[in-house]
Amino acid sequence: MSDTKKSPQGEWSSHFAFILAATGSAVGLGNIWKFPYITGENGGGAFVLVYLLCVALVGLPIMMAETLMGRRGRHNPVTTMEALTAEAKADEHWHYLGWMGIIAGMLILSYYSVIAGWATAYVFKAFSGSFFDADAHAIKQLFADFIASPIQLIFWHTAFMLATMSIVKRGISHGLEKSLRFLMPCLFVLLILLVGYAMTTPGYFQGLHFLFNADFSKLSGNSILTALGQAFFSLGIGMGAVMVYGAYLPKKISITETVVIVSIADTVVALLAGIIIFPIVFTNGLEPNSGPGLIFETLPIAFGSMIGGWLFGILFFVMLVVAALSSSVALIEPTVTWLIETRGFSREKACLWSGLVTWLVGFASIFSFNSWSEFKVFGLTLFELLDYATANLMLPIGGFAIAIFAGWVMVRDHSEQELDLPNPQSYQIWELLIKYLAPAAVFFVFLDVVGVL
Ligand code: PHE
Repeated sequence: MSDTKKSPQGEWSSHFAFILAATGSAVGLGNIWKFPYITGENGGGAFVLVYLLCVALVGLPIMMAETLMGRRGRHNPVTTMEALTAEAKADEHWHYLGWMGIIAGMLILSYYSVIAGWATAYVFKAFSGSFFDADAHAIKQLFADFIASPIQLIFWHTAFMLATMSIVKRGISHGLEKSLRFLMPCLFVLLILLVGYAMTTPGYFQGLHFLFNADFSKLSGNSILTALGQAFFSLGIGMGAVMVYGAYLPKKISITETVVIVSIADTVVALLAGIIIFPIVFTNGLEPNSGPGLIFETLPIAFGSMIGGWLFGILFFVMLVVAALSSSVALIEPTVTWLIETRGFSREKACLWSGLVTWLVGFASIFSFNSWSEFKVFGLTLFELLDYATANLMLPIGGFAIAIFAGWVMVRDHSEQELDLPNPQSYQIWELLIKYLAPAAVFFVFLDVVGVL
């Protein structure tokens, strides 16, 4: 199939362009905002270790599978699944996997954009000198006042959604490639600079100890599911984004090499974020388990007191917004291509409708931080529920289905041909992981959480 076809949406201009886009999709709020706070909530080192295992043994092989399925199908996730199903003469219900991805992407983006809106607002707070000489208490208050205001959150959520849709509207290579070429390297440099700052704080070793010392008594079944969900979320797999990006991948590019580079970059950024944040938490007597506000309550303290902090503060939040933007475009691209390819929409119209629906769903998260904070379903606010349902349920279920499809349903020759590994042994290792280990890991974590184990 893929020998003759290209995606109707075009192709990446080079191997580097694909690596950039895939790294852009992977590296985002998940690494810098979410990884530190869920590590804080789940007790530190042991959680980090489980997370790393999930990335290497489950995430990586599934990411390879999702990319190869995308490249073979060459379309939006639903059409790709239909084509692959027909090719493998399998049950047509498999196309629901594509559907689940489309829905998960929009649901994730609905709250992702709200948090990215916080980051955008913090660019301006940094610029206006709000952090200057402020102590931990003042910074905490600044954040609390900010999220208590639905109007402000709506404003920034709207701004971020407009920015996302204006990139997606321009299509894959013009919209994305250009900005990422410059911005991703900047993000790395800035993170390294901030690690340098963290090393000068008195809480540095306590922070490292928290991040890397594994105390397994702090791990519950739910923490393991959270680590697994975070691996999926952070790599951006299990929902069709990687499938769509794979659809734009030229035939000659090595999937394995790319996926390994992207997952290493993704993991390094998450760990760097942890190495920056926890020393600041301990130096200032803050709690590592303070939840989604963690980076907004810690980093401004550093920017308020360090030399050059005004500039670094602005740069950091700009980079965070950029990292979020390169992920948000990946979250909505499956829906947009689906509307174009199956409903005959123009790219503009597809962006308008998918953006509008996602923007509206975002209000549920906005209000869950203020007016509706008391409204809970299964003990969770609407934001927490959306996050749990997508990251901890939909993505792992999507990943599980991808593993089963690639490992058991797809014609073996096709996956072997797409992966094009240097020797049969490497292919067999991947096959072992995708057929047995990855699905079994997801399955057992679920059993544990529902209390069967
Ligand atoms: N990986 C992104 C992040 O870490 C989020 C994302 C999830 C992007 C799923 C694409 C698909 O922020």
